[in-house]
Amino acid sequence: MRQKMVFGNWKMHGSFEQIQHLLQDVILGLAGEESTVVGICPPYPYLQLVKKLCSNTNMKVGAQNVSQHDSGAFTGEVAASMLSDLGVNYAIVGHSERRELYGETSDLVAKKFMASQCAGITPILCVGETLVQRDNGETEAVVLAQLQAVIAAAGVEAFSNAVLAYEPVWAIGTGKTATPEQAQEVHRLLRKHVAALSEDIAANLQILYGGSVKDSNAGALFTQADIDGGLVGGASLHAEQFIAICAYTES
Ligand code: 13P
Repeated sequence: MRQKMVFGNWKMHGSFEQIQHLLQDVILGLAGEESTVVGICPPYPYLQLVKKLCSNTNMKVGAQNVSQHDSGAFTGEVAASMLSDLGVNYAIVGHSERRELYGETSDLVAKKFMASQCAGITPILCVGETLVQRDNGETEAVVLAQLQAVIAAAGVEAFSNAVLAYEPVWAIGTGKTATPEQAQEVHRLLRKHVAALSEDIAANLQILYGGSVKDSNAGALFTQADIDGGLVGGASLHAEQFIAICAYTES
């Protein structure tokens, strides 16, 4: 059976003081919780602090981005090996904000995915369509093309050590959540695509939903057959919300 997962993507939020309070509350609230994989993706400067605060817990730590390069003259970039040095376990790749605001192509995302795995970091690959694409009936084509670009570069076997996240762009930070049925339909499609190449890998692949996940909708989303948990933005900045969302993975 696939283990449920909830990851908080803090995006570019937080300060040294704020993070200590938030994380202490989250750690207290999740004490004893072992059945779900819970992780936090803070901004780079706080990775070490978060890693330290989580040291005696089951919580995982992830980065929000990673360079496709191993090392070199790439000002402002962070290599996967550096994340690995810090004990970081996961890295988000292909988040829609990186695709849209920083022009990351699926080809680049595939390179980041592979660079993460080479350094022993589990990539969390995000895919998702915009509202215009959904309205044009292009959801299936868009998400499968984003997924296939990585499969073509890394091979389907690479997905035995990766997490997939479906994040409809129109639901991110907008308060609009995909209905559980809408989300399930896309999750099922993604799993079917992988299953056509490897049934085993598809059966074990954790596929998270992201886009305005809150404690009021997490329960209905997480009970869908192909939804294995959530990638949570805004609500992960509030300890009570995040703890409540994690609790829904136990139902
Ligand atoms: P929100 O939960 O704020 O919509 O963000 C979702 C997201 O982008 C997680 O990566």
